[in-house]
Amino acid sequence: MSKGRKNGLPKHVAIIMDGNGRWANRRAMPRFFGHRQGVKALKTAVRYASNQGIAVLTVYAFSTENWTRPQDEVKFLMDLMHKTFVQEIEELRREGVRIQLIGDRSTLSPDILKVWNQAEELTKDNTGLVLNVAFNYGGRQEITKAAQRLAEQVARGEITVEDITPEKIDTLLYTHKTPDPDLIIRTGGEMRLSNFLLWQAAYSEFYVTDVLWPDFGEGDFAQALQAYQARERRFGQVSAKEQS
Ligand code: FPP
Repeated sequence: MSKGRKNGLPKHVAIIMDGNGRWANRRAMPRFFGHRQGVKALKTAVRYASNQGIAVLTVYAFSTENWTRPQDEVKFLMDLMHKTFVQEIEELRREGVRIQLIGDRSTLSPDILKVWNQAEELTKDNTGLVLNVAFNYGGRQEITKAAQRLAEQVARGEITVEDITPEKIDTLLYTHKTPDPDLIIRTGGEMRLSNFLLWQAAYSEFYVTDVLWPDFGEGDFAQALQAYQARERRFGQVSAKEQS
């Protein structure tokens, strides 16, 4: 590790891809145009993460709150998601990417579910980058579902209240088996989590850039990684310097 670097590469990077609408507005274009450009930025980010040897990339593509957007925008995003995965799946498979959908499948349309299931099935044996696409995802909903399942298990006498530990809760989250994100990047300048990976973000490093998602390129990704590598991660402990 070179001088000034406190960390190696993050194993897991999560991205809140924000700013598509503003990107389009600034060009006097409809918001859809920004989402379409957003897909291009996503492809760049996936390739870059994979080439850098990052193990897991999680992207926030559609939140449980996004359903309240104008119906034509929701429909556009659903169609875009469908089309993108149909078009890109073969290349992702060849590049060794393993795709996983994280989110509530119960309210997704059968066509969207079909394409997700195919993408997951086709890439399940790949050993390269794990690409988690958070779609119809909400952190509070994820934790609530886990709590409901635990309550059911206690009610059936399968576990006791004392069996409920952070590790046990972790097994009931969509991200079970993936390490927590080391780095969460948010584009578009807002300083909030927006219901993204609430449980998993406990000790994540946060990096916010004003760059709007459609403009987020390899150089911006590299800067975020450099900023992460220079941080001291303490996980609630005092720093090594203070201890000595
Ligand atoms: C936020 O920008 C972005 C979204 C709600 C959608 C993200 C989707 C993509 C990047 C493309 C599709 C993804 C896949 C997986 C194919 P915003 O609309 O909130 O922008 P604003 O804050 O400027 O209004």
